[in-house]
Amino acid sequence: MRMRKKRRGEERLRALSALFVTKEDCTAAMKGIFGEDRPLRLEIGCGKGEFIRKLSRRDPDYNYIAVERVGDVIVTAAEKYAEDRGLGQLDCHGGWRSPDGTVYKNERWEIPLDLRGNVRFLNCDAAELDGLFCDGAFDAVYANFSDPWTKNGYTARRLTHPDFLRQYVRLLREGGSFTFKTDNTELFDFSLEAVRCEPCFDIVFETRDLHGSERAGSNIVTEYERNFSSQGIPINCFEAVKKAEKK
Ligand SMILES: C[S@@+](CC[C@H](N)C(=O)[O-])C[C@H]1O[C@@H](n2cnc3c(N)ncnc32)[C@H](O)[C@@H]1O
Repeated sequence: MRMRKKRRGEERLRALSALFVTKEDCTAAMKGIFGEDRPLRLEIGCGKGEFIRKLSRRDPDYNYIAVERVGDVIVTAAEKYAEDRGLGQLDCHGGWRSPDGTVYKNERWEIPLDLRGNVRFLNCDAAELDGLFCDGAFDAVYANFSDPWTKNGYTARRLTHPDFLRQYVRLLREGGSFTFKTDNTELFDFSLEAVRCEPCFDIVFETRDLHGSERAGSNIVTEYERNFSSQGIPINCFEAVKKAEKK
C-alpha cells in the first residue's frame, strides 16, 4: 500500500501503543494482552484496517491480531479502530484526544484493558511471524489483496508462496482456515496451485467471482476490494482448511 509519508508517525503510534503488541508479547503467549481469553484470528497485511474493524465487530467472540509491515499504514489502522470503538480521535493540534478530553502527544495512553476491545496490531513483516506464536495458536488466517509481486524472482515474497503456506499450517489449529482474496488472476492461479500442493490443506471454497457467489452476503469488503470492484474487476477468493492429522 502506497502512502505519503505521515508526519509524526512514531509519535502517533506511541499514543495508541496500548493497542499494539510487540514480538515479545507474542512469544510470551499473549499473556495479559486481551481482557478476555478467546480463540485467536490473524490478518496479514491489514492495510488501513477496514476488514479487521468490521470482522472484529461482527464476530466478537474472537480476539484478533492484525499484522502490517508499514508503520504509517498500521498507525492509521489503529487510529481508525480506536475511533470506531469510541476511544477518541486525532486532535487537530496533534496528538490523540481521549474521550475525557486529555490529549496524548508523544506519550502512551494507558487505555484500560476492558476498553481496548478484541483487536491488537502488530507492526512486522509476515516473514517474521515464524516462531512468534505457538503452533495451532489461530482459528483463522486472512490475507486480503496482498501484493502480487509479479516481477521475475520475487515470487517468494507472495503471501501464498509455499514457505508462507507452511507457516500458516503451523499457526492454525486443526480445522482452522486460511482465506485469501485477490483481484489479480495470475496471483490467484499461483496461490491455488500452491495450496493444492500443500498436503495439510483442503480447499473448501473457491470462486473467481466472490461478489456473485453464495458468500457475497457474508463477505466483508476491504478498502482495496471496494476500489477494484467499483472498476468492474471480479474478486477471486478461496478458503482452505487445515486437515486433521492422521493418528
Ligand atoms: C494491497 S494492500 C491491501 C490492504 C488491505 N488488506 C485491503 O484489502 O484493503 C496490501 C497490504 O499488505 C501489506 N503487506 C504486504 N506484504 C506484507 C508482509 N510480508 N507482511 C506484512 N504486511 C504486508 C502492505 O504493506 C499493504 O498495506
